[in-house]
Amino acid sequence: MAARFDRCAAGLVLAGGIRLANRIYFAPMGIDAADDDGSISEGMRRFYRDVIDGGCGLVILGNSAIDGSTRLQRGGLCLFTAAQADAVAPLLDYGEARRCPVAIQLQHYGAQGSTTMTDAPLLSPSGVPCRRMQRLDPNYRLRVMDQDDIDRTVRQFGRAAALARSAGSRLIQLQASNGYLIGSFLSPYTNKRTDKYGGDAVGRSRFLMEILDEIDRTTRGEISISVRLGIDDRVGAEGLQPALLLDTVRRLEAQNVAFISCSICIGETFGELAAPTEATLRDLHAGVRLVKSATTIPIGFAGGVGSLDTAEALLSREVCDLVGMTRAIFADNAIVSKSFAGRTQEIDWCRFDGNCFKDKSNPKASRVYCCVNEKYRRPTDIYYAS
Ligand SMILES: Cc1cc2nc3c(=O)[nH]c(=O)nc-3n(C[C@H](O)[C@H](O)[C@H](O)COP(=O)(O)O)c2cc1C
Ligand code: SF4
Repeated sequence: MAARFDRCAAGLVLAGGIRLANRIYFAPMGIDAADDDGSISEGMRRFYRDVIDGGCGLVILGNSAIDGSTRLQRGGLCLFTAAQADAVAPLLDYGEARRCPVAIQLQHYGAQGSTTMTDAPLLSPSGVPCRRMQRLDPNYRLRVMDQDDIDRTVRQFGRAAALARSAGSRLIQLQASNGYLIGSFLSPYTNKRTDKYGGDAVGRSRFLMEILDEIDRTTRGEISISVRLGIDDRVGAEGLQPALLLDTVRRLEAQNVAFISCSICIGETFGELAAPTEATLRDLHAGVRLVKSATTIPIGFAGGVGSLDTAEALLSREVCDLVGMTRAIFADNAIVSKSFAGRTQEIDWCRFDGNCFKDKSNPKASRVYCCVNEKYRRPTDIYYAS
């Protein structure tokens, strides 16, 4: 192995005895190619097997909706039935056999779901709309969650975690970033509640803490939990900022959370995640560092990492403990193994053009494609101005 990637190649053990062979993880990517009932399709299992074979230390599956009442895309994964759990089990086994744990990301889309998919108002902490979804969804409407809605949603997370456990999962991830439901409770931009679920950082994190307790209960503590934490909404002082989260991070540590994976942006600022500027990346790295300073939980993040040289530099500067790569691994599933083998000249590099992001809201695209990877080549009738 090329010595220049020593830090990337170092193993790590997460709480619950989850052994990672190296520090690179495939950060979640919903490619919207599930079967009609929301189960993982054979095409998706093949995609993830290829990612696992490509050498990263951990794979996180793109978001799985925890209930039929929260959906975004027709081809989005779901995890609320035994059939959906059975369908994902062989992939979890495949990862375990190759020393690459596979974590299922549990998702409630909240105010960034689609009423077209569910024909019902979207749940939200305080009724603050997502301006992006308002533009895209002609029937966009919201309902402020009452206590019954909160209790029911907490139970749905618990049920999804129990299904993941029954499928053989040892690690799940809660999507608590990017403006989706849990993240929207954490953020002062979208959580204006004055009851016990709002008001201050403790109140805003209560919904997440109740979900963690419920998952502990439904899985009898037999599953490790990772939290994908939004650390900066990129809407300025009104929104979530890293410094507002330090108390929450310490509470996650007290809950024995195995891994925190940081992310930035909410629906209306996704453009900055798709094409981060140098300034965005500087803020992101500084925010991740601050979160890391508040806890001993291993910290990772994904955002604009295109090569293992960049990942190695981030690890050596102690910005984080793990490095997430989404698009670079989508563009070349084997970027990790090729880099470790010193075959970087064979890598198909991601162009970071953001076109895979655009597929997600393009009615002509029936799934997510790539401009570089031949296996997921975008059909010629779908194109974007460069
Ligand atoms: C097509 C696409 C789908 C994504 N789906 C998810 C998802 O399901 N869950 C999630 O937390 N993040 C999702 N993301 C965000 C990525 O995990 C990651 O944060 C983002 O792509 C930045 O990392 P990168 O620069 O390495 O691609 C998605 C990104 C893309 C491009
Ligand atoms: S579509 Fe573009 S940005 Fe997305 S993975 Fe492929 S090359 Fe990278």
